[in-house]
Amino acid sequence: MLDLIEKLKEKFKSDLSQIKSLPEVDKLKIQYMGRKGEVADLFDRMKDLAPDERPQIGKYLNELKSYLNTETENLLFRLQKKSTDSQLDLTLPGRKPFVGRKHPLTKTMDEIKSIFYGMGFSVEDGPEIETDYYCFEALNMPKNHPARDMQDTLYITDDIVLRTHTSPVQVRVMEKTQPPVRIIAPGRVYRRDTPDASHSPFFHQVEGLVVDKGICFGDLKGVITAFAHKMFGSDIKVRFRPSFFPFTEPSAEYDFLCVFCMGKGCRVCKNTGWVEISGAGMVDPNVFKYVNYDSEKYTGYAFGMGVDRIAMLKYGIYDIRLFFENDYRFLEQF
Ligand code: DAH
Repeated sequence: MLDLIEKLKEKFKSDLSQIKSLPEVDKLKIQYMGRKGEVADLFDRMKDLAPDERPQIGKYLNELKSYLNTETENLLFRLQKKSTDSQLDLTLPGRKPFVGRKHPLTKTMDEIKSIFYGMGFSVEDGPEIETDYYCFEALNMPKNHPARDMQDTLYITDDIVLRTHTSPVQVRVMEKTQPPVRIIAPGRVYRRDTPDASHSPFFHQVEGLVVDKGICFGDLKGVITAFAHKMFGSDIKVRFRPSFFPFTEPSAEYDFLCVFCMGKGCRVCKNTGWVEISGAGMVDPNVFKYVNYDSEKYTGYAFGMGVDRIAMLKYGIYDIRLFFENDYRFLEQF
């Protein structure tokens, strides 16, 4: 009996080695492992054995059966793999991998940062959930000051707000550093506004602050003008108009020549030839008091900058809401 088992194994091995196709494997399976196959035949013969031989032979037969099973499964796997490999059509056009890209606002922010890096500024960060103290109080806007009405604020509690501007970072930076200070602070800000083509309840600003001995308004004009030229080209003029902000004195608003009509007047600039960018001015000595800077020794300028506005000018976008809708057809253009 042992002899028969060994012979069957050898025969199986040689049959297996001849097989080249999937249907042949099926045939082999039936021939050896089928209900009336060769293994079953050997099991049948067990009844002719002496009872004390049966357990040992039974064990050998089971081992044979599992050996045949494993070998046919392995072969099946190899043949199936070969057949899918051969279905691989190398002439099919490739599928382009999906490549993400930067959001136009991130690109604009990166460009603004790199221009100011080039002028020796470093970048600072501040919280979007801000205290009333940093957002208003320390910027010379005490409670009930009418200037607070300029910014429709989203209050969390009486003392905690979503920051309405990036100016609080000025105070945070001055609290922890001594002059000279030369920073920008980019980030998201929030106001209670109904969205339309030019308003969004959240948008982006870059704050600028320079404090040192002998800083004057001319420095501010020089830096803003250099920025305008780097960002939009050297024929973009800058103008400053008198204005009021509680944290600067004197204060101004500044405009860039409209990049679309170059001053002739168009839809974007509402026929004025100029596009308003933000406010700026010389740091009010009252703000210096809050951070213990000596206003007899130091002067400084500060400015804001509307990033969304700049991105709209840069890329010719007419509706601020497009930035936030996450429509792939819009975003893939940048
Ligand atoms: N924070 C002001 C705003 O959001 C803009 C601004 C005005 C920033 C004057 C300044 C500044 O730094 O000096 O409306």
